[in-house]
Order: sequence, then structure tokens, then C-alpha cells
Amino acid sequence: MAKIIGGVGTSHVPPVGAAIDSGRQGDPYWAPYFEKIQPARDWIAEARPDVCIVVYNDHASSFSLELIPTFAIGVGAKFPPADEGYGPRKVPTADGHPELAWHLAESLIFDEFDMTIANELQIDHGCTVPLSVLYDQPTEWPCKVIPLCVNVVQYPAPTGSRCFQLGQAIRRAVDAYPGDEKVVILGTGGMSHQLQGERAGLINLEFDKAFMERLVSHPDAQAEVGHAEYIREAGSEGIELVMWLVMRGALKREVKEIYRMHHVPTSNTSNGLIVLEDA
Ligand code: DHB
Ligand code: FE
Repeated sequence: MAKIIGGVGTSHVPPVGAAIDSGRQGDPYWAPYFEKIQPARDWIAEARPDVCIVVYNDHASSFSLELIPTFAIGVGAKFPPADEGYGPRKVPTADGHPELAWHLAESLIFDEFDMTIANELQIDHGCTVPLSVLYDQPTEWPCKVIPLCVNVVQYPAPTGSRCFQLGQAIRRAVDAYPGDEKVVILGTGGMSHQLQGERAGLINLEFDKAFMERLVSHPDAQAEVGHAEYIREAGSEGIELVMWLVMRGALKREVKEIYRMHHVPTSNTSNGLIVLEDA
């Protein structure tokens, strides 16, 4: 049976991707961040998952305001990097896992999560930056990728509670898949950040640290936190954190914390990373 061997929560800050692409990981500004993420890179190099399910939000790259799926799953064979305005990132095209992705789509839909099926999808920084965080700059991604998009761009976004339940349904689906794939699930986005308006640049370290703590120890309570609290405390883009709850829902109630880090600054965003396994 396929198996979820771990979960990673990470920010998907675009300048992190740009720093990797332009060889600036050793610059004084970036070196402390890249030193702090090394344990997660070591963990995934050891764990060697066959598949990463990357839960992220598309930032008007593949979707636009004309079409906004609440939840979408990429079932294609290839996912090229999107052109977000400066040309596509120079990262490999991700290979999908259509068989597992279709199994997930069927299982989730029969489990009453009405997924949008994306046969074609270009993956933007929401997906490619977390892959770079974990795998650096390889010529091929060392795992298959199943992108799973959550709308957190246009109100109304799904609730944290629904995202947590989606994670639980993903777990049931992977457990029922008759392959022997090792799967890691990534919940991306956040942490506190606001990119526009009066509070642009907002960072709330206390909220971010409490979020990570509750994600580990009291995920059910964290899942009940509403949109208004995320937006008030973590800024308008802090709502991206609900995607970490999808990852957490796919793990057992009790988890073993492998690694946790928090770093400011990376761009205008509070940057966190957590690596969890089932206890
Ligand atoms: C930025 C964009 C994001 O999607 C994000 O999650 C964090 C930062 C940015 O443009 O700086
Ligand atoms: Fe984002």
C-alpha cells in the first residue's frame, strides 16, 4: 500500500526561488535562511519520497479571476513552471503521477470533496519554491509531483476546518492506493504577510510561533480558527496558512516533530518551515 511518510509545512516566498536561481544562497542576506533549512533538505534526502503532493495556491498563473476552483488536483503527466512575468523559473518540469492523482481525485470526490480536475497546469512559485526549498537546484526533481491547489486568493477561501478534513481524506485515499509509493505531503504558503494596503509588510512572530505550536499539538483547535483571525493577526495573505492544515490533516493525531524553524526576514514575509512524521 502507498504510505504517507511525512509532512512538510513551508512558506513559498518567491525571492527564495530567485535567490536559488541566481546562485545567491551564500549571500549575507540569504545564508542564515539557507543554513536553517538544511536539516529539512537532509531529511528529504534520507526519506526519498517517490511522490510529493504539493498543496499550494496558484497566484493567478494557471487560473485567473475568470476561473477560481476552490480545490483542484493536477492529474497530468507533466507540469511546466509558469511564466509569472519574468519568464518561467529555470527549474525542471515536474513529472506528475497520473495514476495516483486520478485515484486521489476519485477517492476525494466519492468522499464528497468536489475537486476540480486539472489535466493541464503550469506550476507557479507556490509549488516550485517549496520544491526548491527541499531539493535545491537539481536537473530533474527527484520525485513525482501531484499539485493540489487551494483558492486563498479570492474571497471566500475554504475554512481551515475544511482544509484539515481534506487532509484526512487525502490520507484515506493514499492508504487505499495499491502501490508501494512513499508519499510526502507539503502544505505551503504563509506565514504572516500582507503584500498590499495600509498594513503591507505586516509580520506577527507571536502568531506564527503559536500557529506552528498548535499545528503540532492541537491541530483540531487550530482547524477551528476562522478567516477573520488569520487576516487580523497574520495579514491578508496570512490566510495561506490554512494550506498547512491540509498537510497536518494527512498525518496522525500524534506526530513526531523532526524539525522546526522560523526566519525573518525573507522579503516581506515571515518564513517558517516544519517537518513532521507520524508518531
Ligand atoms: C510573496 C508572494 C507570495 O505568494 C507569498 O506567499 C509570499 C510573498 C511576495 O510577492 O513577496
Ligand atoms: Fe503565496
